[in-house]
Amino acid sequence: MPYDARRPYNDLPLLPPPADLETKVVLKKCVLARTAIADLRRAGELIPDQSVLVNTIPLLEAKDSSEIENIVTTNDALFREASQRDEAGDPSAKEALRYRAALYSGVQMLTERPLSARTAIEVCSAIKGVDMDVRKTPGTELKNTFTGDIIYTPPEGETKLRDLLSNWERFANADDDLDPLVRMAVLHYQFEAIHPFIDGNGRTGRILNVLSLIQAGLLDIPTLYLSRYIVRTKGDYYRLLQGVTERGDWEPWVLYILQAVEVTATWTNARIRAIRDLMLHTADHVKAAAPNLYSHDLIQVIFAQPYVRIGHLIDSGIAERHAASRYLKQLASIGVVVEEKRGRDKLFVHRKYMDLLGRDDHVFPAYPPFAEPSQASKKKPK
Ligand SMILES: Nc1ncnc2c1ncn2[C@@H]1O[C@H](COP(=O)(O)OP(=O)(O)O)[C@@H](O)[C@H]1O
Ligand SMILES: [Mg+2]
Repeated sequence: MPYDARRPYNDLPLLPPPADLETKVVLKKCVLARTAIADLRRAGELIPDQSVLVNTIPLLEAKDSSEIENIVTTNDALFREASQRDEAGDPSAKEALRYRAALYSGVQMLTERPLSARTAIEVCSAIKGVDMDVRKTPGTELKNTFTGDIIYTPPEGETKLRDLLSNWERFANADDDLDPLVRMAVLHYQFEAIHPFIDGNGRTGRILNVLSLIQAGLLDIPTLYLSRYIVRTKGDYYRLLQGVTERGDWEPWVLYILQAVEVTATWTNARIRAIRDLMLHTADHVKAAAPNLYSHDLIQVIFAQPYVRIGHLIDSGIAERHAASRYLKQLASIGVVVEEKRGRDKLFVHRKYMDLLGRDDHVFPAYPPFAEPSQASKKKPK
């Protein structure tokens, strides 16, 4: 029967794809993407305290991956939400935060068992904040958000979906010599085509991408910010997924994913270097403007999260409450953080860092050179 977007695609072929995936162009592109990702992995070593990168890059990823699904939040709302333990605030920011938590839990699961259908189910449950399982009822379809036209109807029937997922899982762990990036591209298409859940398939699939690279040993921590590319090329992403379904067009899909890896690995690498530079610059500024205040740990804390609370300093053992509050006020007086009051909540925003995290390029304005002991640092905080 000819392919019909409105009929459940129960004829979805099993993996591996029939086509020869590693064509000459694909292999060439693979080399570039692999080099970029190897550089990214090394860049991670520039910032020895992993909490800096593991907190921030996945949060940027969470924001864009959620945005692909029209869950839109801002960096400010997101990082502010991330800095607190209690429930409050912006539901979209919360959903994006759950995405980051899901990514972390997926990384943790990899230490216990290889990538599996169960991993996917647990990751999706973590994203959605409720227990998810494979679809049991028909009716899931993908629609064009503007026209309402059905663009794809995934397979249906619980047994069918579980069989397809087992096949997906075998391919994820196959003992062959396929390049891990090509494998990731194939797995991502197939996962989206199976579309095992009622919702959350896109986000789960994008987390599985990063997990597959960690499993293959290409990354140690989940720092690849792939959704940055995807959200900016969403039309291509949808069109190329559909091209595989309709015409078996694997090559352009694989090339798209390789390009996404290369571009985002290069970008993330530059971003990590800029964060490292800002850390060094901030340390110098604090040492010059408020030498009594400087400590390595304090710099780590204000880079582990750009919305700093007194509790963060206490938790990392820098000071008890009274002194911690004084330290933050002093950091504010030398222009490193800005105090922000939200209700009874006291927050210190690390503005320069926040701005850098939200920028497309990798520059930040320098602190003014420190000459005289500044008025600000001599002022005794209350
Ligand atoms: N033609 C298509 N075939 C298969 N999957 C697609 C197609 N177009 C888009 N997708 C995938 O479906 C995802 C959206 O599915 P959905 O379950 O709503 O995910 P989420 O809740 O994370 O939004 C997209 O992000 C994309 O990965
Ligand atoms: Mg959705």
